[in-house]
Amino acid sequence: MKTYLVTGGAGFIGSNFIHFLFEKYGDDIRILNADALTYAGNPENLRAVENRENYRFYKVDICDTEAVSEIFRENDVDCVVNFAAESHVDRSIDHPEIFVRTNVLGTAVMLNAARAAWEKEDGKYPEGKRFLHVSTDEVYGSLSGSDDYFYETTPYDPHSPYSASKASSDFLVKSYVDTYQFPGIITNCSNNYGPYQFPEKLIPLMINNALNGKSLPVYGDGKNVRDWLYVEDHAKGIDAVINGGRIGEKYNIGGHNERENVEIVHIILDTLRELLDENDPRRENVSDSLITYVTDRKGHDRRYAIAPDKIRSELGWEPETTFEEGIRKTIRWYLNNEEWLKNVTSGEYQKYYEKMYGAKKES
Ligand code: NAD
Ligand code: TYD
Repeated sequence: MKTYLVTGGAGFIGSNFIHFLFEKYGDDIRILNADALTYAGNPENLRAVENRENYRFYKVDICDTEAVSEIFRENDVDCVVNFAAESHVDRSIDHPEIFVRTNVLGTAVMLNAARAAWEKEDGKYPEGKRFLHVSTDEVYGSLSGSDDYFYETTPYDPHSPYSASKASSDFLVKSYVDTYQFPGIITNCSNNYGPYQFPEKLIPLMINNALNGKSLPVYGDGKNVRDWLYVEDHAKGIDAVINGGRIGEKYNIGGHNERENVEIVHIILDTLRELLDENDPRRENVSDSLITYVTDRKGHDRRYAIAPDKIRSELGWEPETTFEEGIRKTIRWYLNNEEWLKNVTSGEYQKYYEKMYGAKKES
């Protein structure tokens, strides 16, 4: 029975990945979830699986060497999937050091603990051990031309403290492969969207604000481009890389779905109008007049776009969900999970929101 150690499994992508693994493999696997439960980690995301015998949650900070090593001592871990990170660019601009701590030091602690548990006396590793490090396309920097793409060979050129910390963690993984023949693999994925995403990121923030009749803050001219992938397709890509990817390699994951931010906002408004019942009181709130152009993000990357040629040709992975389908599923999920939204947007998040957007001027 394969044992996965998923870090950051209470966050957006990690929780979707855990649901995906249980749906695909059922009782044939064990999942250990190590998560510090920061503002972005929500145990509610895992309610449906928390009583499974083959699931165990550890409230652990990945920077805590002792606690992480203890998990490896207690369990024969086959595969680490390292999602745990600080993930929001705007927060990284305000507090870079937290990003360095979790994303860089935390990854180093995870690598060390896995190596200590796995490496044999002859410097080799038992068959089948894998350390999959989940990274982002933002490490490649910003594209200018509309037909440029990020390949695995594109040099790293991060601009935000977030992407710089993720780039550093990627280099650490590579250094372990090169120095210790460590069984590490890196995936670099484009922007994800789907259920359980914290409403500080573009898509859930716009859905939540539109439902509440709050302004929709578009940064700069709204023409920055992101390449959007439905989160379940990302989970399938990671699964494909764990099972068939080559050690020491990087795999870009993305589905050629590049859109300007303002286009996304219009699609969300149109889809909300389509899905909300005529007499649902929230329908009245949904209006194009909520769109508000605000001061641009500092160092705002203009365009991201992934070339997924390698994962397609080597592993046969393709995105299965079109954007039209994925955005409908996502919006339906947020409409049906108002309680979840209320819970995550109460308390601390309200204070953060005021601080972040109170300071952003309309332009
Ligand atoms: P998220 O912010 O929703 O979740 C992060 C999770 O990590 C949370 O559960 C949080 O509690 C946990 N965490 C944070 N610091 C921790 C620490 N010190 N120790 C243990 N747990 C800690 O993030 P996400 O959007 O799910 O992203 C997951 C990973 O995927 C990140 O590594 C991110 O860089 C990468 N990624 C994200 C996207 C995206 O569009 N969201 C795209 C590509 C790659
Ligand atoms: P985000 O979801 O934060 O992801 P990332 O910065 O990691 O790509 O932002 C996606 C895009 O949307 C990015 O170009 C910034 C923009 N954006 C806004 O215009 N308004 C917002 O309120 C947010 C959160 C993002």
